[in-house]
Parts: sequence; C-alpha cells; structure tokens
Amino acid sequence: MLLLSFFALLAVSNGARILGIIPTPSFSHQIAFWPIWKQLSLRGHKVTTVTTDPMFNSKLTNLTEINIKEGYNIIGEVFESLKTVDNPLLVNKVLRQGFLRISKLILDIKDIASLTKNETSFDLVMVEAHFPEFLIYGSIYGCPTVLLSSLDAINEVHGPMGNSINPVTNPDLLLPYFRDLDFQARLISTVYVCLEWILGYPQYMSDRHKVLREYFGDDAPDVQQMLDNVAMLFVNTHPALHGFRSMGPNTVQFGGMVHMRDPQPLPRDLQTFLDSSVEGVVYFSLGTNMLSKDLKSKEFDVISQALSELPYKVLWKYELDDIPHKPGNIKFAKWLPQQDVLRHPNIRAFVTQGGLQSLEEAIYYHVPVVVLPFAADQEQNAKKVEFRNIGKAIYHKLTGLDKDQLKDAIIQVITDPSYRKNTEDLAKIILDEPMTGVEKVIWWTEYIIRHKGAKHFRNPNLDVPLYQYLMLDILVFFIVILVILVLILVLVYKITRRLFSLAIRCVKHKTE
Ligand SMILES: *[C@@H]1O[C@H](CO)[C@@H](O)[C@H](O)[C@H]1NC(C)=O
Ligand SMILES: *[C@@H]1O[C@H](CO)[C@@H](O)[C@H](O)[C@H]1NC(C)=O
Repeated sequence: MLLLSFFALLAVSNGARILGIIPTPSFSHQIAFWPIWKQLSLRGHKVTTVTTDPMFNSKLTNLTEINIKEGYNIIGEVFESLKTVDNPLLVNKVLRQGFLRISKLILDIKDIASLTKNETSFDLVMVEAHFPEFLIYGSIYGCPTVLLSSLDAINEVHGPMGNSINPVTNPDLLLPYFRDLDFQARLISTVYVCLEWILGYPQYMSDRHKVLREYFGDDAPDVQQMLDNVAMLFVNTHPALHGFRSMGPNTVQFGGMVHMRDPQPLPRDLQTFLDSSVEGVVYFSLGTNMLSKDLKSKEFDVISQALSELPYKVLWKYELDDIPHKPGNIKFAKWLPQQDVLRHPNIRAFVTQGGLQSLEEAIYYHVPVVVLPFAADQEQNAKKVEFRNIGKAIYHKLTGLDKDQLKDAIIQVITDPSYRKNTEDLAKIILDEPMTGVEKVIWWTEYIIRHKGAKHFRNPNLDVPLYQYLMLDILVFFIVILVILVLILVLVYKITRRLFSLAIRCVKHKTE
C-alpha cells in the first residue's frame, strides 16, 4: 500500500513540462545548469530552455533549446563599463540597466514571441534569479515558479524569499566583504542595504514592470507580486565555501560543483607541454566574461613580466593571435579545456579573476589560486578564498597591478604546502553530501511539480510588517513601561521625601 502510494506520487511528476529561462549571456552562468536540464530531460520530462549557450546534444530528445545568443552583443559592453566603476551602488545600477536591455532584446526574439503561441501549457517555470520579470511565464501558464542562480543570490532575491538580510553577517554579494567586518565595512554595508532598499530596488521594480507592460499589455502582473509567489530559490552555493545566512526551507543550496564533467583527454600538444614541465606550471585565465585580450596594455606588461620571472612554466589563456611579446616560459592558447588542464598533476597554481565556476574547478582538483578580481561578485569571492586559506588575492582595482606582488603571491601559494592541503580538505567537505547538487535540484524540482508549489514552506518573515519583524512595537512598549516606572519611582521618591521632611518638621515642632 505504502509502495503503491509512493509510485502514485512519483507518477504525478513524471513527464512534466518544464520551461527554463536563463537570460545571462555568460558561459559560466549557463554551464552551471547544463547537467540539470540534461538530467531532467533524461528522466522523461519535456524540457524547453531559453539559453545563450545551447548544449546542441541530439541525444537529448526531450530537450528543446531556444537560442538567445544575441544577448552576447550587450554583455561585453556591460562588463567593459563595470571595469571603471568601483562603487557597489553604481555596479548594481550598471548591471541592472544591462539586464533590462537584455530582457528587451530577448522578448524581441521571434522564437520567444512565438513561445506562448505554440506551447499551451507548462507544469513548472524556472527562471534565473537576476531576471524576475520572466516569472511572467509562470503567470501565463498558471503554474508554480522557481528562481535559480549559478552563484549566490543578491539581497533583492533573498529578501522576497524571507531570508535574513543582515549587512554585518551577510554583506551583499556585490560588496567586497566576507566575515570579520571592521566598523567602516559594517557602516558601508548597512548604508548600502538601506540605499538599495529605499532607492535602487523600487526604481528597478518599476523599470521591470514598464518592460512587461510594453510586451504583455497594461494588465501585466506586478513583478513584486510574482516574486512573492515564487515556490523556491535554488542557489549554487555550499556553506563550507560561501558561508550561509538564516534562511527557510524554500531556499536550497545546491552548490557541490555541479558543472564538473567527466575527464577527457587533453589535446596532444598540451599533454606534451604539461607532461614535460616537471618544474611545475602556473595556469593563467581570466575566464569567459573578463578576457585576457581586454587587459590594458600596461596590465598585460605587468602580468607578463611577473610570469616571465617565475621559476615555472606558464599556460596563459589569451584570446588573440597578436601577442605583444612572448617570454620563453609562457605558452599561450586561445582556448583551453580548463577542467582537464587543472586536473594535470604538474599544474601548481591557478591565477584567476575569481569567478565562482573557476574557483570550484580549482578546488575540485586541489589547485591553490591567486585571485585578481575585476567585477561583480569576484572581490567577495577573493575574500572567501583568503578566509578559507586556499590561495591569495590581489585587490588591484584602485592601486593597479604590481609585478612583485603578483610574482610573490604565486610563489607563495606554490611553495607553502598548506594552500594545497586546505584546498584538498575543502573539496572533501564540499563533496561529502547525502546527494549531489544536481540530485538535490532534481528532487526539489519534482517535489514542486508533485505538490504544485511549496506554500507550506513560505517564510513567516514575509507575512509580518517590518516593524513587527524588527520587534519595534515591543521595544517601544518596553521603553514606555520603563519610562512610566521611572516616573513612578521619581514621584514616590519625591512624595516620600516630602512626607519625611513634613514628619521631621512635625517632630521638631512637638519637641520644641
Ligand atoms: C524521453 O522521455 C520519455 C518519456 O516521456 C522517456 O521514456 C525517454 O527515455 C526519454 N528519452 C531521452 C533520450 O531522454
Ligand atoms: C513555433 O512554431 C513555429 C512554426 O511551427 C516555429 O517556426 C517556431 O520556431 C516555434 N517556436 C518555438 C518557440 O518553438
């Protein structure tokens, strides 16, 4: 009987129709979800994704991919303008304006416009957390919705889930702080949260609503309301690397290096280069958003000088043929199979921009890192690296890169064995879970389909006004009581003193 009802439950989520929308034009954002789409489709669900990087895997017959690669035309400009701003409020603004442009561009694509005409129903809509306006497809199809993020989510996403937003213990993702904030950092973090909440957030919400009205008519649902109805949030974090905040069961941390794929053989010349470099190899790559070719020529010179003075070989992912100068110990390559490179035993250190997927790959293969953060969450990732002692960070945005600092940092993470040891320990902890990150996402996805949402997991923080959540009325109540008590005490004291002096006068009078 029990077995029967168990299968009946499973049957409900079998062969569901799932729509996944991941608008961010960034390879690292997209690959974090590849194994999820793959597994969901292999389990018999009909999955349709809207993505800038389709897998093009013809074996996945239950997966339909709508290609929105046009988004890449915009994101380059966004990252370019991010390089020159340091104020996190402005960073957030630049990102938001870029994201809004991407949203409009996507909604203009013909296949997206035809989506609602061709497809009559979905059982679940999954939307990348930075683009809540696309929750509208949940409203159109009248089905539950989920937000997902290939990194941690920013405050404006954690907030609507009812998760704690504490500027001291959980500074926003875009701030360069993590643990042990000094007074100045706590002050900046607090002011940031307040300004965002009072000015930035409402403005962005109304901008998003304008876009929705433009494309879906005047009765398009309110973005805030759609956020309020989101069943769950999936974030690609693991508490051992990222820490955590107080959050409800409607938020699932699935970070267990989900995008790691099976090892593949290296190209012949790369294998030969790595095998023969017994003195060790430093791998240098700034990822897929921030490219080495975009480095200023002075930055390139400093890095190139530092790397050329190392007693190791260097493998540098550099995207152009035309390289200003090529020191003898450096091998340049336009593209590299990063996971397989990091797996090679002669790789001793990884110089990275600090993007999450790159960090995860380094940790997975126990390679200590030197982080050169450029934009978005990278500075906070750098702080996490330092906190876990799995590498060193160089904060160069204000001061500029220094050759010796870079060289010394690389030599230090290679010659001090504690960095590799810590990386190995961290990898073991992250992978020691009851189920993999992908399995976790699949489980909770099918759970939401089976139960048509997760209203029972709604965080009670969301259903009380802010003054009640902060217990301000209780505080005021106690203060009033305290004031009244003090007044009574003062009054009693005054009356008693008066009575005493009266009595004394009386006694004096009598004795006279
Ligand atoms: C596609 O889905 C069906 C069930 O709808 C399932 O039987 C089949 O194995 C799936 N095939 C692939 C290749 O994912
Ligand atoms: C909708 O159908 C038309 C005609 O069959 C097709 O050209 C278009 O690609 C479809 N759109 C989607 C999103 O599947």
